[in-house]
Amino acid sequence: MTDQIIQGDWIKVMKSLPDKSVHCCVTSPPYWGQRNYGVDGQLGLEKTPEEHIENLVAGFRQVRRILRDDGVLWLNYGDKYNSSSQHNTHEGLRPADRYTEKHDEEWPGHRKLLANLQPGNLIGLAWRLALALQADGWILRSDIIWAKAVSFCETYCGSCMPESVSGWYWQQHKVAKCPECGALSSFKKRVCKECGWTKPKTRTAAGEIEGFREHSGYKIKEEVEWVDCPGCPKCTPNGGLVLRKGSWRPTRAHEYLFLLTKTNNYFSDMDAVREAHAGPERSGKHESNNPHSGRLDDENKQQAAFVVAERNYNPSGRNLRGVWTIGTQAFPEAHYATFPEKLIEPIVKVSTSEKGCCPDCGAQWARVVEKEQVKRERPADKTDRHNQGEGVNSCGNTVAGANSTTIGWRPTCNCGKEPVPCTVFDPFMGAGTVGLVTYKLNRYYLGAELSEEYMQIIKNRIGEEKDKYALLEQ
Ligand SMILES: C[S@@+](CC[C@H](N)C(=O)[O-])C[C@H]1O[C@@H](n2cnc3c(N)ncnc32)[C@H](O)[C@@H]1O
Ligand SMILES: [Zn+2]
Ligand SMILES: [Zn+2]
Ligand SMILES: [Zn+2]
Repeated sequence: MTDQIIQGDWIKVMKSLPDKSVHCCVTSPPYWGQRNYGVDGQLGLEKTPEEHIENLVAGFRQVRRILRDDGVLWLNYGDKYNSSSQHNTHEGLRPADRYTEKHDEEWPGHRKLLANLQPGNLIGLAWRLALALQADGWILRSDIIWAKAVSFCETYCGSCMPESVSGWYWQQHKVAKCPECGALSSFKKRVCKECGWTKPKTRTAAGEIEGFREHSGYKIKEEVEWVDCPGCPKCTPNGGLVLRKGSWRPTRAHEYLFLLTKTNNYFSDMDAVREAHAGPERSGKHESNNPHSGRLDDENKQQAAFVVAERNYNPSGRNLRGVWTIGTQAFPEAHYATFPEKLIEPIVKVSTSEKGCCPDCGAQWARVVEKEQVKRERPADKTDRHNQGEGVNSCGNTVAGANSTTIGWRPTCNCGKEPVPCTVFDPFMGAGTVGLVTYKLNRYYLGAELSEEYMQIIKNRIGEEKDKYALLEQ
């Protein structure tokens, strides 16, 4: 193996690759109904989620073939709601039947509202996919939550796309005033019933509406003035107020990373991704007296923030947890969200050996470690959970486990050859983040991408990185 990106449909590309030849697959397929990449044969524009998932399962069968038996698949997938852009209104969610036909026509430009699911439903696409893969023979080992933004955490809040959600609230009733004749609430479908003046509707390429301003979350034309309703059957009984019944839910700021394997005997290098013991769990000092409140003093806040920011892997630290708070990373050249490099780094580090693999049989080298057992001791007074000292977790016990130190590396086969880099595969390269991180971590990347435009972006992006190294080596 060596670095390689092949242009074409993922299944066709994989059919040209040998059995059991890659160590790890990391990928993010196009999500269903999310966007049009403008290339023939693209995934994601299937009429139904069922059809989409069927296509993905068929493709991942090829991934399973080219993956080594001790290899792993890291699959990133988001989710979405059964909604169209127009069904979330002031009055809450509209029934599906009013939009299904219209959206049928506009497909694939617009996402269709599924008729077999009440609008407003989270479709559960990520889990539908994970369960379909499980049913197809994959072993589902972990459902990691990639949290781009979180709540109730004082050291990390992250950022995500805002969503327009609101709950129930009373609001002063406002009505539109025709700029032409001054009539109040005289508009029907943008036309004034009194004088025939039509509200202009101009959108620029970027989706902005020119000359419009924000009005309680809506863009409206500057010329239309919103004035207090002089009184109508809707608002008069309520002292001029009207009840808005918005449908609330938390802003979606996470996606899944499923860890799937072929067997229960798969390679991982746990020590490569241990995290320093820091933050609330080991702090010992709490602002409040409640050890479970998770509050941090300033020093520990800084420390915990540092761990998040720097990914300070500590050889004898704690194991990775199942929720990863990692911010998004902009890559302006792509028309969609690319992976942040920080998300891919731990994956490549834990699922491929930094020492490499056997050139003959592909078996990965593993660390030789010395483990020192750390005993768990019960505190003298089991009920005193407030006076915690160093090395004490939030329940007042000393942390049990093992301190492990790497003293060398050893092959896991008996071929006796010098190691070569392991191979990481991404069938949907996009802007090539998996390739870039894989290259930076001295593994071989292998990938497929359908779009010629993206092929060029990947080549430039990884090429620039390679040039940097070339300069360093001179
Ligand atoms: C979500 S993006 C991947 C983004 C990538 N993880 C990154 O960090 O840039 C999905 C990519 O799959 C490509 N694609 C869509 N259908 C494909 C197919 N049938 N075969 C190969 N690639 C395809 C799209 O062109 C798009 O670039
Ligand atoms: Zn008018
Ligand atoms: Zn009114
Ligand atoms: Zn070997």
